[in-house]
Amino acid sequence: MIPITDPRIEEYLMGLAPEEEPALLEMERRAKELAFPIVDRLVGRLLYLLTRLRQPRLVVELGSGFGYSAWWFARAISITGKVVMTDYSPTNIAYARATFQHTGLVDRLDFRVGNALEIGREYRDIDILFIDLDKHQYREAMEVMIPCLAPHALVIADNALWYGKVVEGVDDPETRGIREFNDFMAGRKDFFTTILPLRDGVMVSYRLS
Ligand SMILES: C[S@@+](CC[C@H](N)C(=O)[O-])C[C@H]1O[C@@H](n2cnc3c(N)ncnc32)[C@H](O)[C@@H]1O
Repeated sequence: MIPITDPRIEEYLMGLAPEEEPALLEMERRAKELAFPIVDRLVGRLLYLLTRLRQPRLVVELGSGFGYSAWWFARAISITGKVVMTDYSPTNIAYARATFQHTGLVDRLDFRVGNALEIGREYRDIDILFIDLDKHQYREAMEVMIPCLAPHALVIADNALWYGKVVEGVDDPETRGIREFNDFMAGRKDFFTTILPLRDGVMVSYRLS
């Protein structure tokens, strides 16, 4: 495993990203307690920023866990926008629903339990697609979802550097999945793609037409 960012830099960046929102702090506490892989606050802030810049009508998340990343999208989207959460786990989605009840953001969310690839393809004109499901599914998810994207959509994918395993010659299904996805996106002329070495690597891709 290669650290993407020096821990001292992460600590410094976290020191510049204070948060007081109780629901957010509780989700961060829960993630730590359960060792559940949320995007973390620094990536959350990036999601917030990209959402404010893009001003989406519709955000679809593939792999929402218990709602941490969705919270950043929901906080940034306009009151008429929608964030669709998807997860296999009814427990995760129920937790998210209960958490969002107390935030004033609940009307901006759709809570969907099931296979994200099946649910995601029900939607059209998606302005922001967020990919954070099982890593071997990234490329398939992207191929399935391309017809559902709005013009000039943003695609954001977490774990694009997969703990550095992408450069370590690791050959498990997850690392292969991430490498194939990164190669696929790098080869698409209809998207402009870059990977930010923040936390575990965040791919940001802009549909050019
Ligand atoms: C890394 S976690 C998501 C974390 C979340 N995006 C966050 O940052 O708060 C991945 C989640 O995706 C779900 N998942 C993986 N593959 C899925 C699929 N094909 N359909 C639905 N959920 C899936 C898992 O149940 C897990 O909760």
